[in-house]
Formats: sequence, C-alpha cells, structure tokens
Amino acid sequence: MNPLEIAKGIYWVGSVDWNVRTFHGHTYATSRGTTYNAYLIVDDKVALVDTVYGPFAKELVERIREIVPVEKIDYIIANHVETDHSGALPEIHKYCPKAKVFGTAKCKEGLYKNYYLDLDFQVVKTGDTLKLGKRTLSFMEAPMIHWPDSMFTYVVEDQILMPNDAFGQHYATSERFDDEVDQAFLMDEAAKYYANILWPLSPIIIKKIEDVQKANIPIKMIAPSHGIIWRKDPMKIVKAYLSWGKNETKQKAVVIYETMWQSTEKMARKMAEGLTDAGIDVKFYDVTTADKTEIVSQMLDAKGFLIGSSTHDNDMLPTIAGFLEFLKGLKPKNRIAAAFGSYGWGGGATQSIERDLKDAGIEIAQPAMSVKYVPDENEAKKCYEYGVEFGRLVKK
Ligand code: FEO
Repeated sequence: MNPLEIAKGIYWVGSVDWNVRTFHGHTYATSRGTTYNAYLIVDDKVALVDTVYGPFAKELVERIREIVPVEKIDYIIANHVETDHSGALPEIHKYCPKAKVFGTAKCKEGLYKNYYLDLDFQVVKTGDTLKLGKRTLSFMEAPMIHWPDSMFTYVVEDQILMPNDAFGQHYATSERFDDEVDQAFLMDEAAKYYANILWPLSPIIIKKIEDVQKANIPIKMIAPSHGIIWRKDPMKIVKAYLSWGKNETKQKAVVIYETMWQSTEKMARKMAEGLTDAGIDVKFYDVTTADKTEIVSQMLDAKGFLIGSSTHDNDMLPTIAGFLEFLKGLKPKNRIAAAFGSYGWGGGATQSIERDLKDAGIEIAQPAMSVKYVPDENEAKKCYEYGVEFGRLVKK
C-alpha cells in the first residue's frame, strides 16, 4: 500500500493491522482489526506525527521512503507514549538521530521509561507552535484522553486536527476516509472504542471539546491515530462524543446474565420478551459466550441494564462477577438496573449483583427477582411482567 496524500504535502504513512484480535491486554476484542495512523508533513522542514506499533516499524520506514528519505525528518511529534504509537520510534530514530522530538512533559518521561533513548526532546504546552515553513503546528495538551501524556496536534493552515487516540476506531480497512466506508460499521466501531476506552474519562472529554469549541478553531479534517479519517463530516464524530460523554441514553435495555442450568436464562428470556412488548430496544447476552467489548458498546447508549446470575456458593457466578468489576471501572452515569437469578437453597447472587451495581453508581430501579430452581408457568409470567415494568422505568 502506498502512502496516501490526505492534503497537499500531508501523507498517511501508517500501517493496517488486519489480524490483531485483542488490544490493551485482553480487555478489548478488536474483531475488525485496527490501524496505526502516522502522518508525514513535508514542508521546508519535514515532520512525522506519531509512529506505529513496533512490529510495523519497517513498513513505516518504507512508506516514508516513498516520499522522502527517512534521514530528512527534522521533527517527530509524539502525541502519545503508548506503544501502539511510539513503538517504531527507536527504529525511526536510528535514521534521524538529530530529529527533535516534541511532546508533553509526561510524554518525555514516558518515552524515556519505555525506550531509554537519548532524545533531543522539546517539551510543549497548550498554545505552543512549531513553524515548518508554510505550515504551522499548534499543540494542545489533552491529559487523560486517554493517558497523562496525551496531546493533540493541529495543522493550522490545513485545519487538520490530529488528536491521536481521540475520535479513533479499531477498524482495519483498505479505505482511509469516512466517506468511503460503511457508515454503520464506522459508527459501531467508534462507539465500541469510546465505550471500552474513553467512557470513564467522559467529563474530561466534554471539557476538552468545549475548550476547542470556545477557541473557535476551524476543523476541516480529524485525522486520528486509529481507523478512518473524518473528512466528509468531522462534526459527526464530535457530536457523537458529546452525546456519549454526557451519558445521553435511548429507550434501550441490555440483558446480561450467566446461567448454570438454564433457569436464569429462562428468566432472562421472559424479561426480554416483556421489555420488547413494552417497546424497548433490547440487547441480550450470555456473558460467558458473548464478546464483552460488544456488550459494553451496547451499554453505552442504553438506559437500563438487567443483570442476572444463578447462585453459586452464596454468590453470583464468576464470569458475571468479573464483568461487573470491569463495568465499575467504566463509571457509567444516568443508568438504571435490576438484578435477577435462580437459586437452589440459600440464594445470594442478586444481593451481590445489587452491591456491585451500587458500587458502579447505577441506580437499582426495582427490587431483585429470584426464583427457586426452575421457574414454573406462574413465575415465568412474573418474569415477563418484571420485564414490562422495567421497560416502563426505562421509558420514564
Ligand atoms: Fe492507541 Fe492509547 O494508544
């Protein structure tokens, strides 16, 4: 694949990682792969904005060589320390050891602790600029979007924002622009990315977007470090971030459960029927078999969660327990939930679920529903009614 000129003198020189299926350890299932986007700006001075993941370093070098000798790079802009964007820095640095590296103070510290390289590093702050010739780069610190070192780079004359991880998607494609791909897949991957990585940082994200809006910076293109570049309608993803960041929800409920001998599953199915008949958009997952990255993504705009588990050792089952632990870290706001499950004698699962939901800051909207052993016809009907009632609360 050749480098792609995304604006005059500005090239995408990144890599497409078609095969990656897990990210951030095993916390994120990248079912559609990802890309590591790096950008080369050729002016009187040559600047490389970010690099790629280490195993793709050679590809980056070859792609840059299609445009200029790598030795000609004057500046490397390090928007973010994380290894998927800085991993190829040591390789690039071999070709241009005198290139000056620009990043935040935390970036300087982080790059040193990752690579132990003697870099000519210039710390930048919000508002600092770098003249390349006809073009100017303007830097904007973006701490905790999503690491303390994160920074956005703005190409002033071309009105291109390079916000690194923000507005990205784990989406490997041969196309590079938003107007070239399936919109449903694009927004699905953007939502998945927000839900699983950025959701807990929502207040910081909202503040950063408001700061950019107040500064009245014109944005013609958003070129993130993963996935598709937003050129047709960059505001589409900004509006989506504002909605997700404000925890706006729809009349939608997600039923998530773990079952031992299918009694809890029977309850879940009846509750889902009740929700559906109440006019609610329902998503339904057995947490032991479903893709947890997708579940979280579906929770992002859902008002209600019904969480179920069979009782085992007076507690909930371990997979749902692990899932609720993960959910706690995502800090959802403005949500309602309820717990349900089947038990044989002592019970205990629904109490543990309610405890974890409360710890996650989620309102318990109705008392838990438990059924001894297998639900009979009357209990199945009650589960259905439970779903209808929860649907009414979701609509409120
Ligand atoms: Fe894509 Fe935070 O790295």
